[in-house]
Amino acid sequence: MSAARPFFGGNWKMHKGPDEARAFLHAFAERHPPREDRTVVLFPPAIALPALVGAAADRPDVEVGVQDVHQEREGAHTGAISASMAAEAGARWGLAGHSERRREFGDDDERVARKVDRLLEAGVAPVLCVGETLEQRDAGRLQEVLHRQVSAVVERLSDRDRRELVIAYEPVWAIGTGRTASPEDAAAAHELVRKDLAAWIGDAAEAVPIIYGGSVKPANAGELLTMPGVDGALVGGASLDPEAFASICAVVTA
Ligand code: 13P
Repeated sequence: MSAARPFFGGNWKMHKGPDEARAFLHAFAERHPPREDRTVVLFPPAIALPALVGAAADRPDVEVGVQDVHQEREGAHTGAISASMAAEAGARWGLAGHSERRREFGDDDERVARKVDRLLEAGVAPVLCVGETLEQRDAGRLQEVLHRQVSAVVERLSDRDRRELVIAYEPVWAIGTGRTASPEDAAAAHELVRKDLAAWIGDAAEAVPIIYGGSVKPANAGELLTMPGVDGALVGGASLDPEAFASICAVVTA
């Protein structure tokens, strides 16, 4: 840990429509009492976002985010949603640059940077996702890839906006594979990201939450979150189960 409050994100990806989202919230809320010492954000599919926001109305400690937005403000982009629409529907947070978007939908660094711009403009706090493939890691390119992905976004921002970022380090080879980065590997990558940030904002980089994603489960969350510089988790599969996600959100952090 280094940032003030640990951040626990649940990225549902393409799971759960409005009814399931409501049912999840009720089950999760029973298992997770409100706590002021951590941030908890659920990222449902956009179509379930308003239902989840409604279900969480009496739990302001459980926030809702959008998984992706278009890089344009509006226009003829069938099937897409804009950052301002997401904000209107109640999204307080927005993912940008998730590796599944980069791989399946061709989101490159430039597009990711524009999405972050749109989110900030709409008053939605961005969670920038970065991470290397196994091939890149094995080729010794970890630092270069992280530097490229972080810089592409950070160089366009004001210092104020740089301090607003949350960055999720999600090694591609650990996502949905059951293979987690070792706590030491995660901490080392977080340090690289923080050094890149410090080049722009100096000591303020210490307070930017850098969270880990990739096969986080109740069994490994505690160990990961006690590593220096690991400020939270972005959880995929295990966030679909209210009990598992509640248990991750309850871990003791350093
Ligand atoms: P898993 O936890 O299923 O590996 O997914 C991680 C992730 O991609 C979160 O954004």
